[in-house]
Amino acid sequence: MNILTDEQNEFLKDLVSQFKFSASSVDNIAQKFHFEMERGLAGRPSSLKMLPAYVSQPSGKEKGKYLAVDLGGTNLRVLLVSLDGEGNSVVEAVKKVSIPNEMFSRESRVLFDFVASSIESFFIENRIERTCKFDLGFTFSFPVNQLSVNSGKLICWTKGFAITDGAGEDVVELISNSLKGVGFENIKVVALLNDTVGTLVEESYANASCDMGVILGTGSNACYLEKTRRISKLKENFHSKNMIVNMEWGNFNGYSSTTFDRSLDRNSTNPGEQCFEKMVSGMYLGELSRLVLCEMIERKLLSNKVSISFLNQANKLKTEDMAIVASDCSVSLTTAEEHLCRIGLLGTSVSDRVILKRVFEVVAVRAARMIAAALISVVLWMDRELTEKHLIAVDGTVYEKYPMFKRNIEDFLGKYLKESSRKVLLTLTKDGSGKGAAITAAVSGKDI
Ligand code: BGC
Repeated sequence: MNILTDEQNEFLKDLVSQFKFSASSVDNIAQKFHFEMERGLAGRPSSLKMLPAYVSQPSGKEKGKYLAVDLGGTNLRVLLVSLDGEGNSVVEAVKKVSIPNEMFSRESRVLFDFVASSIESFFIENRIERTCKFDLGFTFSFPVNQLSVNSGKLICWTKGFAITDGAGEDVVELISNSLKGVGFENIKVVALLNDTVGTLVEESYANASCDMGVILGTGSNACYLEKTRRISKLKENFHSKNMIVNMEWGNFNGYSSTTFDRSLDRNSTNPGEQCFEKMVSGMYLGELSRLVLCEMIERKLLSNKVSISFLNQANKLKTEDMAIVASDCSVSLTTAEEHLCRIGLLGTSVSDRVILKRVFEVVAVRAARMIAAALISVVLWMDRELTEKHLIAVDGTVYEKYPMFKRNIEDFLGKYLKESSRKVLLTLTKDGSGKGAAITAAVSGKDI
């Protein structure tokens, strides 16, 4: 039964066509991806930075205890990870702290000092001898121009970080200085890596067919295993014939945008950048939906009891709210209503909630399909005829906690790749940015 008015249906129909992304667009997107990938690998201007990670797949035999630090979202984590040399990695201790809000807009020094003091508390809480020697793997989930596996210059901050400096500086030096500041001369930062790289490395520690790592969480990005000879911008010799490349696909600019995307971009901390990320990742999907709902309020298409004050606040609606509403299949959407009341979005009628659910679906389905098209593009770049199996390690809250996402990505892969979609497998790889950092530290400790 359709309980919506003609005007409401008309608006939603138009929204669907604005957010449409069909399998017939994939060839074109793949072409654009390949063009940008090629340029990025050659060091020419490109929306894909294609950053060499100076690390290849691990052998699975790496062994020992390593410290890992994971910085890149709203939380900071310090971990002690043990590798058994047989493909198993175990987190022995972990400390998770949320990064205080004010640090998102201060100087980088404040943030790195905070990391160092969190490591200090981690040592105290876990009764680790302060002078114990450790190699540390640092997962730093921002675009970094790596100079080697243990050095790299920050290109820019993303995901709403508005830190006033740091771009152009060596991230390993920044963290090492802060560590020295608290007297940790015994901790050596031997690996600097992106979270996508950690995810690929963690999965391939036990499974060599993994050749791609993807994050679909607060931000989005991917890395894959490239033939070293194809990275034509690489000046240094690298000991392996393959190297992981961090694509920084969040900045891809080949998808067409709607007025809502453009408005979100204009009001972001980094207009004109990370355009793909702003269409697909957890930090933005709620906001994108909110902008659609604001337009509906303006056109008087939601009931007048809906709390406008909630919807008028930027970034108030979160992607996890969308997931909860989207998974309510009851006729009156009662679970959704309870949740909306809890977050302060009061006064919705059943038809308002039907509209909300539909809007969330439209925004999320487009995102999932765009991710699928990006995956297809990268897999076809690695293996044009799809002759091999490709295991893709995926991590991130959106992928993990929004079941519809995974389903839609897989459906779309099936639609486009047909039979061959059997060759492209996605697997949820938890904690690549912790365990993967330790494995990378083990690999690179040997190399440097
Ligand atoms: C960053 C990437 C990171 C991704 C996922 C993006 O905003 O630029 O480096 O991998 O978020 O965390």
